[in-house]
Amino acid sequence: MNRILVIGATGQIGVELVPVLREMCGADNVVAAEHAERLPDDIRTAGPFTSVDVTDYGQVEAALREFKVDAVFHLASVLSALAETRREQAYRVNFNGLYNVLEASLANGVKKVIVPSSIAAFGPESPRDSTPNDTVQRPTTIYGISKVLGELMGNYYQAKLGLDVRGVRLPGIVSWKAEPTAGTTDYAVEIFHGAIEQGHYTSYLKPDTYLPMMYMPDAIRALTMVAEADSNRLLHHADFNVNSMSFTPAQLADAIKAKMPDFTIGYDIDPMRQDIADSWPNSLDDSAARAEWDWRPRYNLDTMVDDMLKNLQARLRKVGTGPGGNETRRAAGS
Ligand SMILES: NC(=O)c1ccc[n+]([C@@H]2O[C@H](COP(=O)([O-])OP(=O)(O)OC[C@H]3O[C@@H](n4cnc5c(N)ncnc54)[C@H](O)[C@@H]3O)[C@@H](O)[C@H]2O)c1
Repeated sequence: MNRILVIGATGQIGVELVPVLREMCGADNVVAAEHAERLPDDIRTAGPFTSVDVTDYGQVEAALREFKVDAVFHLASVLSALAETRREQAYRVNFNGLYNVLEASLANGVKKVIVPSSIAAFGPESPRDSTPNDTVQRPTTIYGISKVLGELMGNYYQAKLGLDVRGVRLPGIVSWKAEPTAGTTDYAVEIFHGAIEQGHYTSYLKPDTYLPMMYMPDAIRALTMVAEADSNRLLHHADFNVNSMSFTPAQLADAIKAKMPDFTIGYDIDPMRQDIADSWPNSLDDSAARAEWDWRPRYNLDTMVDDMLKNLQARLRKVGTGPGGNETRRAAGS
């Protein structure tokens, strides 16, 4: 990867992936693309940036040409809960946008495209525990259907057209830099904000909703590792399971309570997001990723909770939204 374009660089993953790629490949070689939302200043000042709407083929092509891009991280997506309420937008971004990125890459000499998939690519008919890498996938959400499309299209472009498309099925991502706002697993980030800012959190998922999750540093490692994996070892391409930890809202609340004894949790269930969560796996079998590119997660529930509390407390103190602060926090789209 010599010259990388990160599309969707303002998102929960993008704002953390861009600095890591710039560290790995040189700041001038990583172009961050924003759309609708402005990139944070630290990303704008540290390297090249542009604006790309993936629903417009011409804009994707123009960015690939202008910056002579040879690798793309395609992170633009409408996430699970939002996609259920905005089908038309989700279809344009997740389906047409994906097609535009793949076709423009093919036509403009891009060698590699990384497209994250998700646990949402599975459905209620998939085996629930330790879901195999290769198994039945009949998702029941627009977002999940778009993720299966991404995997199959990625494998097709790789096998038939020679475009090297790779991807990992990420679980819910927990992070402290940018906030998710439209996924089903967002509670696992919001709960930390609730704990620090109010000492309380009301979960929209039931206390026993068990889901696979991952701390952001591991998600970034999964994306960069799969991107750099030796192609001679790969049997899979755009559809690798990656597993890290699984927990319920009640278990996460207990882990936070162990560090903040006054923290309390309540429940007010959102039927739409509960329904989506109930259709997803409990955990993933990631033996293919382990065998083909040596994937191993580094964080578990306890080490993640420690790191989250430490970093989020420091960040909220800085922006003045912690206890006593009065600024509104950024609401990112996720
Ligand atoms: N965050 C998670 O928990 C999670 C879990 C599994 C998979 N993923 C996948 O990882 C990728 C990144 O997710 P994220 O959490 O950063 O999402 P996010 O919602 O935080 O960010 C999405 C990004 O897409 C951009 N975008 C939306 N419409 C666009 C358009 N028309 N043109 C260009 N850009 C557009 C937004 O500006 C934003 O930068 C997605 O493919 C998502 O499906 C995320």
